[in-house]
Amino acid sequence: MAWTPDGVMVCFLQLDLALAAGQRVLQSLKRFNEVHNKLRTSFRVRAGVNYGEVSIFEDSKLERIAEHVIDVAGHMQKEGRPNSLWVGGEIYNLLADKSGFRLVGQEVDGMPVYEWSLEPPRGGTMAARAGRGAELLAASERASAAGTRRVGRYEILQELGRGAMGVVYKARDPQIARTVAIKVILIGNQPPEVLADYLQRFYREAQTAGQMSHPGIVTIHDVGEDEDGQPYLVMEYVEGTTVEKLLVPSKPGEPGPPRDLRQILAIAAQVADALDYAHRRNVIHRDIKPANILITSEGRAKIADFGVAKLAGTQMTQTGLIVGTPAFMSPEQITAGTVDSRSDIFSFGILLCWMCTGNRPFAGESITEVAYRVVHMPPTPLREFNADLPLELEVVLSRCLAKKPEERFQTAGELANDLEALRAKLPATPAPLPATPGPSN
Ligand SMILES: Nc1ncnc2c1ncn2[C@@H]1O[C@H](COP(=O)(O)OP(=O)(O)OP(=O)(O)O)[C@@H](O)[C@H]1O
Ligand SMILES: [Mg+2]
Repeated sequence: MAWTPDGVMVCFLQLDLALAAGQRVLQSLKRFNEVHNKLRTSFRVRAGVNYGEVSIFEDSKLERIAEHVIDVAGHMQKEGRPNSLWVGGEIYNLLADKSGFRLVGQEVDGMPVYEWSLEPPRGGTMAARAGRGAELLAASERASAAGTRRVGRYEILQELGRGAMGVVYKARDPQIARTVAIKVILIGNQPPEVLADYLQRFYREAQTAGQMSHPGIVTIHDVGEDEDGQPYLVMEYVEGTTVEKLLVPSKPGEPGPPRDLRQILAIAAQVADALDYAHRRNVIHRDIKPANILITSEGRAKIADFGVAKLAGTQMTQTGLIVGTPAFMSPEQITAGTVDSRSDIFSFGILLCWMCTGNRPFAGESITEVAYRVVHMPPTPLREFNADLPLELEVVLSRCLAKKPEERFQTAGELANDLEALRAKLPATPAPLPATPGPSN
């Protein structure tokens, strides 16, 4: 990436990281100008990105590096519009996430240019998009005039968050005027046969997950591929937060917010109940963790991402890259990669311990240490984290966290009943539990 004059050049190891950094800079600057900038003129940045091998040694003098890769990035930056990021056609074709890029209709260094911009598109837009209905064209023109990005027919409203597999957006379905959440899965550039295989699995998983209808499960409305072939899942939009955001300490090492055990057990029982519903339909979650438990503004739990971890798994083996950490995985998931519903019950146990105490029962400095503990070591007893917690809860937890699946609760329904019974026994207005620090993953 190159910015001149009075600019900076930054090299990234991956193209997607360079793009994300450029976009983040532009977005932050826009926010700065809108909210904090007290001057009459706003600050503007042009960004240009190029990709390729550059040899830079520690003692290389920047002015003596005359590399084509850097030159093109510099030219993109120089020609680009303010508050925009320009890339050449070659780069555009390599992008895993092409959303928000527009063809500019101009060439730089002999390449067509694509632009990602926070500004409305430049002058008399693509009126000649033949073959489409006038209405659709008008709607799309309106949408792009307002700077709206689309995934399929859905209008992107804002980014909600990013995970290991992709980006989640709040979006609007214009056909039935409904707000939805869209998860665009970034699969990158894969050979066609790998991609076809992936998409087949993706649709199969979505079909299974999409048949579930339960108040404790985020409903799947639709799936598709965007115009660049990236698969996406359209889900129910949950206004609220996640268990992770609700309970994680604001700074590492500090205590998290105080925990109300009755409330936590209510959430836990709802999660177990929803898991039971899924397990009865032979759907296994595979990635139960605080970030995947959404909490509605009424305080009800909804499990997100059913079966999605399986797709990450397929990606993992292809790239040889481990996505996420084993912090919430069961022993059999770590060792053999095979799971049944009782694996979700183990992960649920880790979630429950974390929700009650802010600590995980198998903690460690590294992924390997955590994995070793999950597979071989007994869990840290719940009441070592907080001696005031009831013994019955310790018993429930150790039945979730047994190493052998046959020694765990055999159904999440039984687990939900025990949690509910425990909750009913607690005094109605207990003092909040002091929380101890500990990151969720
Ligand atoms: N249906 C939804 N409604 C509202 N917000 C959602 C929805 N699904 C996800 N989110 C938000 O988007 C964020 C990112 O979700 P995502 O599933 O990509 O990441 P994650 O769960 O943190 O990690 P992972 O990729 O391992 O699942 C979540 O933390 C949550 O805040
Ligand atoms: Mg998730």
